[in-house]
Amino acid sequence: MKVLITGGAGFIGSHLAHSLVKRGAEVTIVDDLSMGRLSNIADMAQVTFYQRSVCDYEFMHGLLKRGKFDYIYFLAAIASVADSIKRPWETHQVNSEAILNSLEFIRREHIKVKRILFSSSAAVYGDDLQVPKGEGSAIRPLSPYAIDKFLADRYMAAYGKLYHLPTVCVRFFNVYGPKQNPQSPYSGVLSIITNCLVKGRQFKLYGDGTQTRDFIFVEDVVRAMIMIVEKSTASTVFNVANGQENSLAEVIQVYEKIARRTLKIDYLAPRAGDIKRSVADVSRLNDLGFKSRWTLAAGLEAYWNSV
Ligand code: UD1
Repeated sequence: MKVLITGGAGFIGSHLAHSLVKRGAEVTIVDDLSMGRLSNIADMAQVTFYQRSVCDYEFMHGLLKRGKFDYIYFLAAIASVADSIKRPWETHQVNSEAILNSLEFIRREHIKVKRILFSSSAAVYGDDLQVPKGEGSAIRPLSPYAIDKFLADRYMAAYGKLYHLPTVCVRFFNVYGPKQNPQSPYSGVLSIITNCLVKGRQFKLYGDGTQTRDFIFVEDVVRAMIMIVEKSTASTVFNVANGQENSLAEVIQVYEKIARRTLKIDYLAPRAGDIKRSVADVSRLNDLGFKSRWTLAAGLEAYWNSV
Protein backbone atom coordinates (compact mmCIF):
# COMPACT_ATOMS: atom_id res chain seq x y z
CA MET A 1 0.00 0.00 0.00
CA LYS A 2 1.46 3.35 -1.07
CA VAL A 3 0.39 6.43 0.84
CA LEU A 4 1.09 10.14 0.45
CA ILE A 5 0.70 12.41 3.49
CA THR A 6 1.09 16.15 3.05
CA GLY A 7 1.85 17.76 6.40
CA GLY A 8 3.25 14.44 7.62
CA ALA A 9 5.76 16.14 9.94
CA GLY A 10 2.99 17.96 11.79
CA PHE A 11 1.09 16.98 14.92
CA ILE A 12 -1.65 14.82 13.37
CA GLY A 13 0.23 13.87 10.18
CA SER A 14 3.22 12.42 12.04
CA HIS A 15 0.98 10.19 14.17
CA LEU A 16 -0.78 9.03 11.01
CA ALA A 17 2.54 8.29 9.28
CA HIS A 18 3.72 6.24 12.26
CA SER A 19 0.53 4.20 12.35
CA LEU A 20 0.64 3.51 8.60
CA VAL A 21 4.32 2.50 8.69
CA LYS A 22 3.47 0.04 11.49
CA ARG A 23 0.78 -1.42 9.22
CA GLY A 24 3.38 -1.98 6.52
CA ALA A 25 2.49 0.91 4.23
CA GLU A 26 5.04 2.65 2.01
CA VAL A 27 4.71 6.24 3.25
CA THR A 28 5.75 9.42 1.43
CA ILE A 29 5.67 12.70 3.33
CA VAL A 30 5.63 16.21 1.87
CA ASP A 31 6.13 18.92 4.48
CA ASP A 32 7.81 22.34 4.23
CA LEU A 33 8.53 22.26 7.99
CA SER A 34 6.91 25.67 8.45
CA MET A 35 4.92 24.18 11.33
CA GLY A 36 5.97 20.55 11.38
CA ARG A 37 9.25 19.21 12.71
CA LEU A 38 11.52 16.47 11.46
CA SER A 39 11.78 15.13 15.01
CA ASN A 40 8.04 14.37 14.92
CA ILE A 41 8.62 11.69 12.29
CA ALA A 42 9.19 8.52 14.29
CA ASP A 43 10.29 6.30 11.41
CA MET A 44 12.51 8.52 9.28
CA ALA A 45 14.38 5.51 7.86
CA GLN A 46 11.16 3.91 6.62
CA VAL A 47 9.52 6.92 4.97
CA THR A 48 10.32 8.99 1.91
CA PHE A 49 10.48 12.62 2.99
CA TYR A 50 10.40 15.74 0.82
CA GLN A 51 10.85 19.17 2.36
CA ARG A 52 8.56 20.96 -0.08
CA SER A 53 5.53 23.18 -0.02
CA VAL A 54 2.25 21.85 -1.36
CA CYS A 55 2.20 25.11 -3.34
CA ASP A 56 5.23 23.94 -5.34
CA TYR A 57 2.99 22.74 -8.13
CA GLU A 58 5.69 21.45 -10.44
CA PHE A 59 7.01 19.26 -7.67
CA MET A 60 3.54 18.08 -6.62
CA HIS A 61 2.56 17.21 -10.18
CA GLY A 62 5.72 15.14 -10.67
CA LEU A 63 5.14 13.33 -7.38
CA LEU A 64 1.45 12.63 -8.05
CA LYS A 65 2.28 11.34 -11.51
CA ARG A 66 5.08 8.96 -10.57
CA GLY A 67 3.95 8.12 -7.00
CA LYS A 68 1.21 5.57 -7.84
CA PHE A 69 -0.39 6.26 -4.46
CA ASP A 70 -3.28 4.15 -3.25
CA TYR A 71 -4.29 6.72 -0.67
CA ILE A 72 -3.62 10.44 -0.34
CA TYR A 73 -4.07 12.41 2.89
CA PHE A 74 -4.07 16.19 2.45
CA LEU A 75 -3.18 17.39 5.96
CA ALA A 76 -0.73 20.22 5.16
CA ALA A 77 -2.21 23.56 6.24
CA ILE A 78 -1.74 26.88 7.90
CA ALA A 79 -3.38 25.41 10.96
CA SER A 80 -3.92 28.44 13.14
CA VAL A 81 -6.97 30.67 12.92
CA ALA A 82 -4.96 33.64 14.23
CA ASP A 83 -2.24 33.04 11.67
CA SER A 84 -4.88 32.96 8.93
CA ILE A 85 -6.17 36.35 10.06
CA LYS A 86 -2.64 37.77 9.71
CA ARG A 87 -1.98 36.00 6.38
CA PRO A 88 -5.28 35.50 4.52
CA TRP A 89 -3.69 35.24 1.07
CA GLU A 90 -1.06 32.66 2.04
CA THR A 91 -3.74 30.75 3.94
CA HIS A 92 -5.86 30.69 0.82
CA GLN A 93 -2.97 29.37 -1.27
CA VAL A 94 -1.99 26.61 1.15
CA ASN A 95 -5.38 25.63 2.57
CA SER A 96 -7.49 25.65 -0.55
CA GLU A 97 -5.72 26.59 -3.80
CA ALA A 98 -3.13 23.82 -3.39
CA ILE A 99 -5.93 21.28 -2.85
CA LEU A 100 -7.78 22.42 -5.97
CA ASN A 101 -4.56 22.35 -7.97
CA SER A 102 -3.81 18.74 -6.97
CA LEU A 103 -7.41 17.60 -7.56
CA GLU A 104 -7.39 19.20 -10.99
CA PHE A 105 -4.07 17.56 -11.87
CA ILE A 106 -5.33 14.15 -10.72
CA ARG A 107 -8.49 14.62 -12.84
CA ARG A 108 -6.72 15.89 -15.96
CA GLU A 109 -4.03 13.23 -15.89
CA HIS A 110 -6.48 10.42 -15.02
CA ILE A 111 -4.36 9.44 -12.03
CA LYS A 112 -5.72 6.35 -10.31
CA VAL A 113 -6.12 6.55 -6.54
CA LYS A 114 -8.35 4.60 -4.15
CA ARG A 115 -9.27 7.50 -1.85
CA ILE A 116 -8.18 11.12 -1.27
CA LEU A 117 -8.83 12.55 2.19
CA PHE A 118 -8.88 16.24 3.06
CA SER A 119 -8.67 17.57 6.62
CA SER A 120 -11.46 20.08 6.99
CA SER A 121 -12.40 21.59 10.34
CA ALA A 122 -15.18 22.12 12.86
CA ALA A 123 -14.36 25.79 12.27
CA VAL A 124 -16.73 25.69 9.27
CA TYR A 125 -19.70 25.54 11.68
CA GLY A 126 -18.64 28.82 13.29
CA ASP A 127 -20.46 30.13 16.34
CA ASP A 128 -23.87 28.62 15.67
CA LEU A 129 -25.24 27.94 19.15
CA GLN A 130 -27.17 24.88 18.08
CA VAL A 131 -25.43 21.72 19.27
CA PRO A 132 -24.57 18.98 18.58
CA LYS A 133 -23.17 19.92 15.19
CA GLY A 134 -24.00 17.38 12.51
CA GLU A 135 -22.45 17.35 9.05
CA GLY A 136 -25.67 18.97 7.78
CA SER A 137 -25.66 21.79 10.34
CA ALA A 138 -25.48 25.45 9.38
CA ILE A 139 -22.13 26.59 7.97
CA ARG A 140 -20.84 29.92 9.25
CA PRO A 141 -17.11 30.27 8.58
CA LEU A 142 -15.82 33.28 10.51
CA SER A 143 -12.11 33.43 9.64
CA PRO A 144 -9.95 33.07 6.52
CA TYR A 145 -8.97 29.68 7.96
CA ALA A 146 -12.57 28.51 8.14
CA ILE A 147 -13.48 29.98 4.74
CA ASP A 148 -10.63 28.15 3.01
CA LYS A 149 -11.27 24.90 4.85
CA PHE A 150 -14.87 25.06 3.71
CA LEU A 151 -13.88 25.95 0.15
CA ALA A 152 -11.59 22.95 -0.18
CA ASP A 153 -14.15 20.77 1.62
CA ARG A 154 -16.70 21.71 -1.11
CA TYR A 155 -14.21 21.26 -3.96
CA MET A 156 -13.59 17.73 -2.65
CA ALA A 157 -17.33 17.04 -2.75
CA ALA A 158 -17.69 18.59 -6.21
CA TYR A 159 -14.78 16.61 -7.67
CA GLY A 160 -16.44 13.50 -6.26
CA LYS A 161 -19.85 14.25 -7.72
CA LEU A 162 -18.84 15.86 -11.03
CA TYR A 163 -15.73 13.89 -11.95
CA HIS A 164 -16.10 10.73 -9.83
CA LEU A 165 -12.85 11.26 -7.97
CA PRO A 166 -12.86 9.14 -4.76
CA THR A 167 -12.69 12.06 -2.30
CA VAL A 168 -13.67 12.29 1.35
CA CYS A 169 -13.42 15.02 4.05
CA VAL A 170 -12.96 14.90 7.80
CA ARG A 171 -13.99 17.81 10.00
CA PHE A 172 -11.74 17.71 13.06
CA PHE A 173 -13.00 19.02 16.38
CA ASN A 174 -10.48 19.63 19.23
CA VAL A 175 -7.66 17.17 18.70
CA TYR A 176 -5.07 16.73 21.48
CA GLY A 177 -2.15 14.51 22.37
CA PRO A 178 1.63 14.13 22.28
CA LYS A 179 3.62 16.24 19.78
CA GLN A 180 1.12 19.09 19.70
CA ASN A 181 3.29 22.17 19.75
CA PRO A 182 2.42 24.45 22.71
CA GLN A 183 4.60 27.38 21.60
CA SER A 184 1.97 29.71 20.18
CA PRO A 185 -0.83 31.24 22.27
CA TYR A 186 -3.13 29.85 19.56
CA SER A 187 -2.02 26.24 20.04
CA GLY A 188 -4.60 23.74 21.24
CA VAL A 189 -5.61 24.56 24.80
CA LEU A 190 -4.57 21.14 26.15
CA SER A 191 -1.02 21.53 24.88
CA ILE A 192 -0.85 24.93 26.60
CA ILE A 193 -2.27 23.52 29.86
CA THR A 194 0.20 20.62 29.72
CA ASN A 195 3.07 23.04 29.29
CA CYS A 196 1.85 25.15 32.23
CA LEU A 197 1.51 22.09 34.46
CA VAL A 198 5.00 20.86 33.55
CA LYS A 199 6.68 24.23 34.02
CA GLY A 200 4.52 25.48 36.90
CA ARG A 201 3.44 28.46 34.79
CA GLN A 202 0.27 30.49 35.07
CA PHE A 203 -2.46 29.42 32.63
CA LYS A 204 -4.45 32.25 31.06
CA LEU A 205 -8.07 31.14 30.99
CA TYR A 206 -10.16 33.22 28.61
CA GLY A 207 -13.64 33.40 30.13
CA ASP A 208 -14.98 31.55 33.15
CA GLY A 209 -14.25 27.97 32.05
CA THR A 210 -17.87 27.15 31.19
CA GLN A 211 -17.14 27.10 27.45
CA THR A 212 -17.41 23.56 26.14
CA ARG A 213 -15.45 21.56 23.57
CA ASP A 214 -15.43 18.08 22.07
CA PHE A 215 -11.89 16.76 22.67
CA ILE A 216 -10.57 13.75 20.79
CA PHE A 217 -7.25 12.01 21.39
CA VAL A 218 -4.93 11.95 18.38
CA GLU A 219 -4.73 8.13 18.25
CA ASP A 220 -8.50 7.96 17.83
CA VAL A 221 -8.24 10.57 15.07
CA VAL A 222 -5.66 8.47 13.22
CA ARG A 223 -7.79 5.32 13.49
CA ALA A 224 -10.84 7.23 12.29
CA MET A 225 -8.98 8.60 9.24
CA ILE A 226 -7.63 5.19 8.23
CA MET A 227 -11.08 3.63 8.63
CA ILE A 228 -12.65 6.42 6.58
CA VAL A 229 -10.28 6.12 3.62
CA GLU A 230 -10.58 2.34 3.61
CA LYS A 231 -14.33 2.02 4.16
CA SER A 232 -16.12 5.07 2.83
CA THR A 233 -17.64 4.57 -0.57
CA ALA A 234 -18.87 8.08 -1.32
CA SER A 235 -17.46 11.60 -1.49
CA THR A 236 -18.90 12.59 1.85
CA VAL A 237 -17.91 14.44 5.02
CA PHE A 238 -17.32 13.00 8.49
CA ASN A 239 -17.18 14.84 11.80
CA VAL A 240 -14.18 13.46 13.69
CA ALA A 241 -14.79 13.95 17.40
CA ASN A 242 -15.73 12.06 20.54
CA GLY A 243 -19.31 13.26 20.75
CA GLN A 244 -18.72 14.29 24.39
CA GLU A 245 -19.21 17.85 25.56
CA ASN A 246 -16.85 18.93 28.34
CA SER A 247 -16.41 22.35 29.85
CA LEU A 248 -12.88 23.68 30.13
CA ALA A 249 -13.28 23.79 33.91
CA GLU A 250 -14.17 20.06 33.95
CA VAL A 251 -11.21 19.21 31.76
CA ILE A 252 -8.84 21.12 34.04
CA GLN A 253 -10.22 19.32 37.08
CA VAL A 254 -9.69 15.89 35.50
CA TYR A 255 -6.19 16.83 34.34
CA GLU A 256 -5.13 18.16 37.74
CA LYS A 257 -6.06 14.83 39.33
CA ILE A 258 -4.06 12.88 36.74
CA ALA A 259 -1.01 15.15 36.96
CA ARG A 260 -1.35 15.46 40.73
CA ARG A 261 -0.62 19.16 40.31
CA THR A 262 -2.66 22.30 40.66
CA LEU A 263 -2.94 24.55 37.66
CA LYS A 264 -2.34 28.19 38.45
CA ILE A 265 -5.10 30.05 36.65
CA ASP A 266 -5.27 33.66 35.59
CA TYR A 267 -8.87 34.49 34.60
CA LEU A 268 -9.11 36.88 31.65
CA ALA A 269 -11.91 38.20 29.47
CA PRO A 270 -13.24 35.78 26.84
CA ARG A 271 -11.38 35.74 23.51
CA ALA A 272 -13.01 37.68 20.71
CA GLY A 273 -14.93 35.30 18.48
CA ASP A 274 -14.64 32.41 20.94
CA ILE A 275 -17.23 29.70 20.48
CA LYS A 276 -19.33 29.10 23.60
CA ARG A 277 -20.41 25.51 23.00
CA SER A 278 -18.99 22.91 20.66
CA VAL A 279 -19.87 19.24 20.43
CA ALA A 280 -20.25 17.00 17.41
CA ASP A 281 -22.89 14.59 16.30
CA VAL A 282 -20.69 11.61 15.42
CA SER A 283 -23.38 9.17 14.28
CA ARG A 284 -22.07 9.10 10.70
CA LEU A 285 -18.61 8.08 11.92
CA ASN A 286 -20.08 5.53 14.33
CA ASP A 287 -22.23 4.05 11.55
CA LEU A 288 -19.03 3.34 9.65
CA GLY A 289 -17.95 1.15 12.58
CA PHE A 290 -15.79 3.62 14.50
CA LYS A 291 -15.85 3.61 18.27
CA SER A 292 -13.63 5.94 20.26
CA ARG A 293 -11.15 4.03 22.46
CA TRP A 294 -9.98 6.99 24.52
CA THR A 295 -12.03 8.62 27.23
CA LEU A 296 -10.89 12.10 28.14
CA ALA A 297 -9.27 10.78 31.35
CA ALA A 298 -7.41 7.99 29.52
CA GLY A 299 -6.22 10.37 26.79
CA LEU A 300 -5.04 12.95 29.30
CA GLU A 301 -3.19 10.28 31.24
CA ALA A 302 -1.40 9.06 28.10
CA TYR A 303 -0.59 12.65 27.18
CA TRP A 304 0.74 13.43 30.65
CA ASN A 305 2.88 10.29 30.66
CA SER A 306 4.41 11.32 27.32
CA VAL A 307 5.81 14.63 28.60
C1 UD1 B 1 -10.40 24.93 17.67
C2 UD1 B 1 -9.30 24.91 16.65
C3 UD1 B 1 -9.58 25.90 15.58
C4 UD1 B 1 -10.97 25.72 15.01
C5 UD1 B 1 -12.02 25.61 16.12
C6 UD1 B 1 -13.33 25.16 15.51
C7 UD1 B 1 -7.24 24.32 17.82
C8 UD1 B 1 -5.94 24.82 18.32
N1 UD1 B 1 -8.04 25.24 17.28
O1 UD1 B 1 -10.43 26.21 18.28
O2 UD1 B 1 -8.63 25.72 14.56
O3 UD1 B 1 -11.30 26.85 14.27
O4 UD1 B 1 -11.64 24.65 17.06
O5 UD1 B 1 -14.31 24.97 16.47
O6 UD1 B 1 -7.55 23.15 17.87
N2 UD1 B 1 -8.21 28.86 25.86
C9 UD1 B 1 -7.82 29.44 27.05
N3 UD1 B 1 -6.49 29.70 27.24
C10 UD1 B 1 -5.54 29.42 26.30
C11 UD1 B 1 -5.96 28.83 25.09
C12 UD1 B 1 -7.31 28.57 24.90
O7 UD1 B 1 -8.65 29.72 27.93
O8 UD1 B 1 -4.36 29.68 26.54
C13 UD1 B 1 -9.64 28.59 25.65
C14 UD1 B 1 -10.17 29.24 24.40
O9 UD1 B 1 -10.56 30.56 24.63
C15 UD1 B 1 -11.33 28.31 24.03
C16 UD1 B 1 -10.86 26.93 24.53
O10 UD1 B 1 -9.82 27.20 25.46
O11 UD1 B 1 -12.50 28.69 24.72
C17 UD1 B 1 -10.34 26.05 23.42
O12 UD1 B 1 -9.39 26.82 22.69
P1 UD1 B 1 -8.48 26.21 21.52
O13 UD1 B 1 -7.79 24.99 21.98
O14 UD1 B 1 -7.68 27.33 20.99
O15 UD1 B 1 -9.51 25.68 20.44
P2 UD1 B 1 -10.82 26.33 19.78
O16 UD1 B 1 -11.01 27.73 20.11
O17 UD1 B 1 -11.94 25.39 20.11
